[in-house]
Amino acid sequence: MACFQRAVACALVLMSLFVGLSQAKDLLVGGKTDAWKIPSSESDSLNKWAEKARFLVGDSLAWKYDGQKDSVLQVTKEAYASCNTTSPIEEYKDGNTKVKLDRSGPFYFISGAEGHCEKGQKFVVLVLSQKHRHTGISPAPSPAEFEGGPAVAPTSSAYTLRGGFLVAFGVLVLGLILM
Ligand SMILES: *[C@@H]1O[C@H](CO)[C@@H](O)[C@H](O)[C@H]1NC(C)=O
Repeated sequence: MACFQRAVACALVLMSLFVGLSQAKDLLVGGKTDAWKIPSSESDSLNKWAEKARFLVGDSLAWKYDGQKDSVLQVTKEAYASCNTTSPIEEYKDGNTKVKLDRSGPFYFISGAEGHCEKGQKFVVLVLSQKHRHTGISPAPSPAEFEGGPAVAPTSSAYTLRGGFLVAFGVLVLGLILM
C-alpha cells in the first residue's frame, strides 16, 4: 500500500514539474494582433510586455501588422539604442512575421517605418536557455550568461510563477500522501 501511494505521489510530483513547462511557444508580440505600432503611452510600451513574459530558446515571436505600412527589423544593440534602420541584421515586411528565438541572450527589434522607433515602437527580449524550462523555480539569470546584454532586469514571469506553484503543489501532495 505504502509502495503504491509512493508511486502515485512520485507520478504527481513529476507531472507537476512538467505540465506546462515543456512546450515551445509562439508568442504574439504585445499579446494582441494590433500591438505592432507606436505605443500610446509608456505603460503601453512593448518593453513593458516583454518584461512580463519569459522567453526560452525554441520559442517564436509572431507579429501581425500591415506590411504596406510597417516592418520588423532585428538589429544590433547599438542600432536599437539609436533607432538606426539602415543596416538591420534581418528585415521582415510581409505583415505576418515569425522569428524563432534560436539562441539565448538579447534580441533587439525596432520598427522599420519612418520615425516609429524614435516614438517607442521597439523592444528587447532576453532569451533564456532551455535549462531554465526544467528547473521549476527559475533562478535569475546571471549577467555572465548574457555577455553584452541589455541592462534589463529579468522580472518574475508567468513561467516562474506557474513553475513555483506547481512545485509547491507537488510537494504538498507528496507531504500529504507520505504523512
Ligand atoms: C547607421 O548605421 C550605419 C551602419 O552601421 C552607419 O554607417 C551609419 O553611420 C549609422 N547612422 C547613424 C545616424 O548613426
